[in-house]
Formats: sequence, structure tokens, C-alpha cells
Amino acid sequence: MNKLKSPIIVVNFKVYSEVEGPGAMRLAKECEAAARESGVSFVVCPPMVELSTVARAVTVPVFSQHVDAKGPGSITGYTSPQSVKAAGANGTLINHSEHRMVMDDIAAAIKTCRELGLISIVCTDSTETSIAVAAYSPDYIAVEPPELIGGDISVTTADPQIVSRTVDMVRKVDPMIEVLCGAGVKNGADVKAALGLGASGVLLASGVVKAKDVKAVLRDLVSGI
Ligand code: G3P
Repeated sequence: MNKLKSPIIVVNFKVYSEVEGPGAMRLAKECEAAARESGVSFVVCPPMVELSTVARAVTVPVFSQHVDAKGPGSITGYTSPQSVKAAGANGTLINHSEHRMVMDDIAAAIKTCRELGLISIVCTDSTETSIAVAAYSPDYIAVEPPELIGGDISVTTADPQIVSRTVDMVRKVDPMIEVLCGAGVKNGADVKAALGLGASGVLLASGVVKAKDVKAVLRDLVSGI
């Protein structure tokens, strides 16, 4: 089982205009600096087209935003776990709310990642889906209510029970899996609440990527730890 030092802050850059081209590297370097200053584990998920460039330039773990359950070969436009590994990534998101996969493909992607030594974070929309995914023993499950994604109210405020319930239920299926939470997470108080609910960290995007003062937001996030 691959693991990072908890708690972890996973920053998904998505494909916002702010991280097009050199913007991805700028943000990854800010996260690297925040990790160095604070000693907190940061993970960055740059846009797919910047994955290799960023992975070779920063010391924080770099994850792909997605992998397909397909091996190398004639798979035009798809992303094999093998290609992500070769690009220098340490792990990957799987089944993000904005890039859903069927359960068989989620299971296959987790298995291949494990064989390749890639850390897997499987995103889910509910406790029930998290329980189903836990049967395949990913390294992490990140529970994110889709309706709160990109909004201003953190999952830890709007629906704290989904976090604590997911932590409890996933632990019953496989105690080695760590649970993250995300959607609307913006500040140190949200991170603190997430950890208080039993999560091992957070997965967030807009609060960092679209921030006017990225440094200040990153400092604030780690202040909750
Ligand atoms: O992958 C993170 C995510 O979907 C949550 O997005 O913008 O609510 O932090 P956001």
C-alpha cells in the first residue's frame, strides 16, 4: 500500500484558465513552497497536458487528474496508467465527479495503479459509493458531494455527516484506506473541521486555483493543521 504522510492537502488544478501553460508550473511551485515552509504534505494535480512538465520540476507528489482503464496501445486520446507513470507522476485521481467511470473500470484502474506503484485516490459522491469502491482497496477515497463542488460552502459545514459516516464505513471494509473530503473547501477552518471528522486530508480546487492571493490561501489552509 502506497501512502503519503497525513494529513494531506490535494490541490486539483482542474483545467481552469489560470493553470493553462506556465500557470500550472507557477501554481505547483507555490504549493511546493507551502509544503516546504509548513512541513504539510501537498499533492498537486496539474492539467493533463502539463503533467510531465510539472512532475519533472517539483518535489511535491504530482498526480494525474484521471486515468483510463486501458493499457498501452491503440487508444487514441485516452490516458493509460502506464503513460502517467512514465510522465513522472506519483499517483492519480480516479472517477472524479467531472470525469466519472463505471465501477468495473474503477476497479481495473485501481489494480493497475497498484501494480505500477501509483497512488490511487478514488473520488466518490456518497458514503454508499465509497463503500462499494472500498472493496477494491484504493489507497484513498475522496468523498465529494457534487452539488457543493465549486461553491462557497464547505462539505464540512454543509454535510459533516457524509465525512464522518464515510470514514466509519470505509474503515469497516478496509481499515488501510484513508478518506479525504472535498467540495467547497476554502480555508484553514474547513481543513481543521475535515480532520476533526476523521478525514486524513482534503481535496480542493477553486479555493486555491482561483484565489487572488494564492500564497495567503495556502498559508491559511495549513493553519488548520
Ligand atoms: O477535485 C476537487 C473538487 O472537485 C472540489 O472542487 O472547487 O469545490 O474545491 P472545489
